[in-house]
Amino acid sequence: EKGGYQHFMLKEMHEQPKAVKDTLSPRVDDENRILLDELRLTGEELNHFNKITIVACGTAMHAGLVGKHAIETFARIPVEVEIASEFRYRDPFVDERTLLIAVSQSGETADTLAALREAKARGAHVLTITNVVGSRISREAHDVFYTWAGPEIAVASTKAYITQVVALYLIGLYLAELKGTMTRQQVAEKVAELKTLPEKIQQILDQQKTIQELANKQFNQQSVFFIGRGIDDHTAKEGSLKLKEISYIHSEAIAAGELKHGTIALLEEGTLVVALATQEQLYDKMLSNMKEVKARGAYVVAVTEEPRAAEVALSADVVLTIPDTHNEFTPALAVVPLQLFAYYTAVARGADVDKPKNLAKSVTVE
Ligand code: M6R
Repeated sequence: EKGGYQHFMLKEMHEQPKAVKDTLSPRVDDENRILLDELRLTGEELNHFNKITIVACGTAMHAGLVGKHAIETFARIPVEVEIASEFRYRDPFVDERTLLIAVSQSGETADTLAALREAKARGAHVLTITNVVGSRISREAHDVFYTWAGPEIAVASTKAYITQVVALYLIGLYLAELKGTMTRQQVAEKVAELKTLPEKIQQILDQQKTIQELANKQFNQQSVFFIGRGIDDHTAKEGSLKLKEISYIHSEAIAAGELKHGTIALLEEGTLVVALATQEQLYDKMLSNMKEVKARGAYVVAVTEEPRAAEVALSADVVLTIPDTHNEFTPALAVVPLQLFAYYTAVARGADVDKPKNLAKSVTVE
């Protein structure tokens, strides 16, 4: 059932190229047009919305953060992302002019379902991005966008995350074309790039030996810090969650510019800092943050795009590379080395990777 892999998590990481392909291909044609038949909204109805609210928990929430950036960049619609368990207990600004997007792999998460109901009761139009056909959330939403990742068994979400991110890219581009913030040609160029992601994810998976060797050296860390700026900060959060949930090493993600406002005090000789540096316009700032932590004794593992590897190497101890892609799409690639690192660290520590202690695959209690 694990197809020759030692754990479901490893198998599911390797299924990511296919999961992305399966999620994309029914929705894009040969001319790189986006067809979202599942969204029954007309352009006029879409223009009626003055904001989008994304609700989700855990990894799905991290996908939402990446989605916010993509939708705001492409379609120029304000997007807020809220943890479902927080959203429902405040008096949220949600009405008939809100498009609510509930993201949930299982479609059964209690807090996400409750947030969806709350938004519906306030008149919002509810779209869900989910991986499970017929799940409770899919039945209660007005519109459903299925990620075709296939069953995800490991508690740590990997392939579902990547397909959620891709779903949000498609929605952002679709909205952009409808609203006229991007031309058909511009959208087609983005879609063409999206189609290259499966192959690029595969190239990262092919580096797994290097990442395993790194994990075999670093698995005794007490505490690990993930830093990044902009969307790299979202990838940092996801990398940190992945590591802590399966390896039980304390870890936190921090926007790199915030380090000096407190967290940097925790660095000691040899503390592992994973630095994401994929954003062109923030690149110099990230390099100086890496130098800053190195000067305090940190062991810096950087993740960057191939063309920049040599330059980044000057400010890092180890560089892990991802293939070059458009700025907005780097989260779909940069997360993969972090998933592999979390996995091999957990294996090195002898943890029960697929079923970490205290956790359930779907959290159906509030
Ligand atoms: O099924 P859902 O996407 O609604 O689940 C949300 C979270 O419980 C889930 O992503 C959790 O954070 C994972 N264990 C992360 O790997």
